[in-house]
Amino acid sequence: MMQNLSLAKKIEKYIAQGKEFTLQELYTEFGEDYKKHSIRARVYESNKVIRTGRGSYILAGIDIEAVIEEVDTKEHIFRLVDAKLKYDMIFLDIPYSLAGQRGGNRALVDYETISEDEFKSIIIEVEKLLKNEDSQVFFMIAGGKTSIKGAKRYINMFSHTGLKLVNQGSYTKLTKDGKVCNMGAYKLPKELIFSYSKSGKERFSEMTGMSMDYSYQRPPLPRAGGYRTQKPLILLQSLIKRATLAGEAILDLFAGSGVTLDAGLSLGRKVHGLEISSDAIINHVLPRLQRYTRNEPKGLLATTQTSLYDFM
Ligand SMILES: C[S@@+](CC[C@H](N)C(=O)[O-])C[C@H]1O[C@@H](n2cnc3c(N)ncnc32)[C@H](O)[C@@H]1O
Repeated sequence: MMQNLSLAKKIEKYIAQGKEFTLQELYTEFGEDYKKHSIRARVYESNKVIRTGRGSYILAGIDIEAVIEEVDTKEHIFRLVDAKLKYDMIFLDIPYSLAGQRGGNRALVDYETISEDEFKSIIIEVEKLLKNEDSQVFFMIAGGKTSIKGAKRYINMFSHTGLKLVNQGSYTKLTKDGKVCNMGAYKLPKELIFSYSKSGKERFSEMTGMSMDYSYQRPPLPRAGGYRTQKPLILLQSLIKRATLAGEAILDLFAGSGVTLDAGLSLGRKVHGLEISSDAIINHVLPRLQRYTRNEPKGLLATTQTSLYDFM
């Protein structure tokens, strides 16, 4: 009988029997059926994603390769510094507040923004998290005419750190036909990309003087199932290859849809992402990263749970 009912009806019947359940139990009870309907259930599937605490997840394997934390970066960055974590590359795609532009996507954006002063206190800590003199920070911000004045105020905040400009470039958004995306009669402005390191040098000398101007197809907009302000995977892969080697560690302080984490894992890097929105983590980051998880015996996984940061 139960087989012909919708999942919602089946669950309704279950509750009507006076039973209480956790999401995990619900998943066990309704198995495949529930899995199809719920992304959160996919997270509970097998032992591939481990939830280490409220809003904190690691992707499982013998060696942990990814940590995702649901936190406010403004506060949490101090904990990373206290834990003496060091990264080979740090990516900063901040939710900024600029005239004519909010986080790069106007009305589609509904998250809180980081003020210039908050940004300043974040990048002072960013410097402490870099592993070596030539470990690179990549910072992206809108470069349109109306927003450039405000963007410069954020960029100028780097003068309060010991970080020196390594290179400067841009990301031009293309349509799937390879044309520059437009906004009515106007071309969509480029996003600016800045790279900094403590030494002011590229990590790899062969990259010195190499252009950082990239033109890639723009990811789908939210109405087509994409994440607001999502960057192309290939853009992040290009930056990661430019500044790191396989096995090295990358931090994304505002993970969004998890593109940086995806790009890092696709190239064999370890990744650590911070993101304030549980919606972004549950509906975008974790589903996107599921394909990197490996099924390993539970015993091995248990040992990896002792300290979230041991993997770095
Ligand atoms: C510009 S988007 C990042 C997009 C990402 N690079 C991508 O390609 O999908 C900025 C992200 O910062 C998050 N955010 C906003 N305030 C935050 C905070 N205080 N701490 C951590 N994340 C925050 C937003 O939820 C949003 O997902």
